[in-house]
Amino acid sequence: DDGYDFVVVANRLPVDFSVAEDGTTSWTTSPGGLVTALEPVMQAHSGAWVGWSGSPDLDHEPFDADGVRLVPVALSATEVELYYEGFSNDTLWPLYHDVIEPPAYHRQWWDAYRKVNARFAAAAAAQAAPGAIVWVQDYQLQLVPALLRELRPDVRIGFFNHIPFPSLEIFAQLPWRAQVIRGLLGADLIGFQRASDAANFVRSVRRFTDLTTRGEVITVTDDDGGRRYVRAAAFPISIDSEHFDNLARSPAVKARALEIREELGNPEVMLLGVDRLDYTKGIRHRVKAFGELLQDGRLTVPEVTLVQVASPSRENVGAYQQLREDVELLVGRINGEYGHLGKAPIHYFHHSYPAEEMAALYLAADVMLVTALRDGMNLVAKEYVAARSDERGVLVLSEFTGAADELAGSVLINPHDIDGMKDRIVLAVEMDYREQRKRMRRLRRRVLEDDVEKWSQTFLAVLSAVPAHHLPAH
Ligand code: G6P
Repeated sequence: DDGYDFVVVANRLPVDFSVAEDGTTSWTTSPGGLVTALEPVMQAHSGAWVGWSGSPDLDHEPFDADGVRLVPVALSATEVELYYEGFSNDTLWPLYHDVIEPPAYHRQWWDAYRKVNARFAAAAAAQAAPGAIVWVQDYQLQLVPALLRELRPDVRIGFFNHIPFPSLEIFAQLPWRAQVIRGLLGADLIGFQRASDAANFVRSVRRFTDLTTRGEVITVTDDDGGRRYVRAAAFPISIDSEHFDNLARSPAVKARALEIREELGNPEVMLLGVDRLDYTKGIRHRVKAFGELLQDGRLTVPEVTLVQVASPSRENVGAYQQLREDVELLVGRINGEYGHLGKAPIHYFHHSYPAEEMAALYLAADVMLVTALRDGMNLVAKEYVAARSDERGVLVLSEFTGAADELAGSVLINPHDIDGMKDRIVLAVEMDYREQRKRMRRLRRRVLEDDVEKWSQTFLAVLSAVPAHHLPAH
């Protein structure tokens, strides 16, 4: 047993698990787009997944689940605070999303980030077979590629950034910008969501290192004097479209979709928002626009209702607590102002739901509102499209998402332009079925064709084509 040929390294394991006092283990699917995208990839390659359990101070032996080796990396409560809540989600997250909220820079957080990244690199090095492919995921682990290369010069290393990479002028704020770039350049292939993200990265490489670049290829000289070529390119991520399509075609989900409309009191129009409760998602802007449309009388209750699913996220980080206060105050005001007994303008849920219920909500909704201020991709937009085999429904989509580069057929909006967004929402609400079908067909062709399997195959094919340098002789 000399290890796994395919190793994924991500901040989270695909499941959150916790161990109760009596030793029983419980599981839930991890939140967010990364796990949504990578789960089907792991089912296809039997390999190991190195990640955190989602609970502080939980140490657990590696174990098998659905044919995948899960390798937990333990984080102490302090590390969760400094590395995860601090540097990852209060420094990098706002910085990489164009400083929508001000990033905080703390040297202690950076120290914890370095230390935890080294632990992930060591755990990956211990799992990888000679010459293995190791695929490192997302902004929480940007130092892992270089740290892993030091330990295991024989493996091929890929990195994929699921979130945007900011412009040079914004990235320049980061006190540890040169170290982060050096960390990423340990990879053979660095993937981004959009071409503009890859271009932003290459510009930062030119500015903050003395390396030479040519197009998307960077020439790196390692400490041992060896030369390598690193590629930075766009690989837009997707979903398991067929799975979602099938789910939404199932009789149980279809019946549930009808039931949802009934439970809402059979409104003429149902609007839907589905997000992690995150300030990047533009929930405040969306709800404000909806409230103004009610105020203007352009939309009326009970004819129209908005269902907003906001799944809990990063609840110990200040900006997320503030967002929750703001959204819940705004929702409460609008419901108080425009609601009637049994007829609320907004149905707001601070929960997450299983995929079946999500598919039913998508199928029930006439208009899907994706109004992110900045988003690497936005998989909810693609899930909505995949669920609409009836070729109905309208996708209102922010220009500031990666998905906007791909999803022609959506109604594009600028969420900062409240008047423009209001007009587009009304246009979506009033769109006739012929036009809906025309647009939805176009959207579905794209989403069903470019699914997550294609994404991972494309990325891994490019990574596998990297010459196997430094393979140890044995
Ligand atoms: C986004 C990020 C992921 C992250 C997810 C959920 O999709 O790109 O890396 O896992 O959000 O956030 P959380 O902090 O709960 O892992």
